[in-house]
Amino acid sequence: MDYSEWMRLSSRLPASFVPNPLSAALARLRSEGHEVLDLTVSNPTRCGFRYPEADICAALGSPLVLSYDPDAQGSRSARKAIAAHHGNGLRAEELQLTASTSEGYGLLFKLLGDPGDEVLVPSPSYPLFDWLARLEGLSARALPSYFHERWHLDMGALEAALSPRTRAVVVVNPNNPTGHFLSLREWADLTNFCARAGLALLVDEVFADYALEPPTDRLATALLDLEPPCPVFLLSGLSKVAALPQLKLGWIAVRGPGAAEHLEALAFLADQYLSVSAPAQAAAPRLLELAPALREQILARLHANLMALDSSLEGHPHLARLPVEGGWSVLLRRPAVDSDEACALRLLETQGVLIHPGSFFDLHGDGHLVLSLLGPETTFRSGIRGLVAAL
Ligand SMILES: Cc1ncc(COP(=O)(O)O)c(C=O)c1O
Repeated sequence: MDYSEWMRLSSRLPASFVPNPLSAALARLRSEGHEVLDLTVSNPTRCGFRYPEADICAALGSPLVLSYDPDAQGSRSARKAIAAHHGNGLRAEELQLTASTSEGYGLLFKLLGDPGDEVLVPSPSYPLFDWLARLEGLSARALPSYFHERWHLDMGALEAALSPRTRAVVVVNPNNPTGHFLSLREWADLTNFCARAGLALLVDEVFADYALEPPTDRLATALLDLEPPCPVFLLSGLSKVAALPQLKLGWIAVRGPGAAEHLEALAFLADQYLSVSAPAQAAAPRLLELAPALREQILARLHANLMALDSSLEGHPHLARLPVEGGWSVLLRRPAVDSDEACALRLLETQGVLIHPGSFFDLHGDGHLVLSLLGPETTFRSGIRGLVAAL
């Protein structure tokens, strides 16, 4: 057998695993011992928050974890606690547990699509969607948003992107990185569109607890809609709700037409893997009790960093931040004198400041940088000073 035959991998995988120039430069600087001011950090366990360590360890040390009694839908006690966290009439029966939100997408793409089918995913957004769809044999097409005083879903583009192979629409509420919460009008238009076109609607609400502006006309959560006209799958998880990404516990709430059948099929899919660990499920009710105090710390951090950013940008002739309604990140607009990737590389190499270029989040054209508001305030302020000085 020719060795190259053994190396022929599925065409669903990337053609190459070579890191992009920014990741390569970051790895080199760190290996040389340089300090990097990381303005992309999204791992809450690395941001100096005060975790109730003893309580978390006690929850994970419950004797319940010593026996194995798998339930494909997820343990009832965990689902009850998650339903109570969401409120809005959500019942434990309407939930499917997963090992993460990413795994939730994998299950839903398997549930809804056949190989070659399409899903519409938000653009700009979180960069994983293309791969999550592709790894399930589906292809992702962009559902664009545009900025005019605030972000708006482009409903015209949604109609245009529809094809006979489209099976589902994905939205992120609030979006990462734009911070856009859907308006109530957008929600009504979107659900009616999906109902007419026979599509399912996936709503990622991992950041829904992190609203940064008082509510106006925005959709605080899709669960406010008790009887949506199309199937609605809401995704969330402990990563953001309890700032505990290492627990690997996510969930899908299912509503709308066909919910009972969808839940039954999701449990069948989950049963093939049984990937949610017993300790995470046993600890979930207590971890959700501890979560509000952590979210309070995070919200205080997001507001403090946003204020620091605004005061650094005051009077700066060329830089502006876009309005942010919720979530952990913010967009900075700059004159597109060079590509955003070149700009990010320059900031890293000359200032030791790590930011993401807008293109990483599918922002079109140049002139956008993406900053995380989650990092410790001293690091954030020093990073912003370096950034403002260099731009
Ligand atoms: C919009 C969005 N959804 C999901 C996730 C990942 O969640 P999980 O850790 O549950 O897979 C992230 C992580 O940053 C995210 O930004």
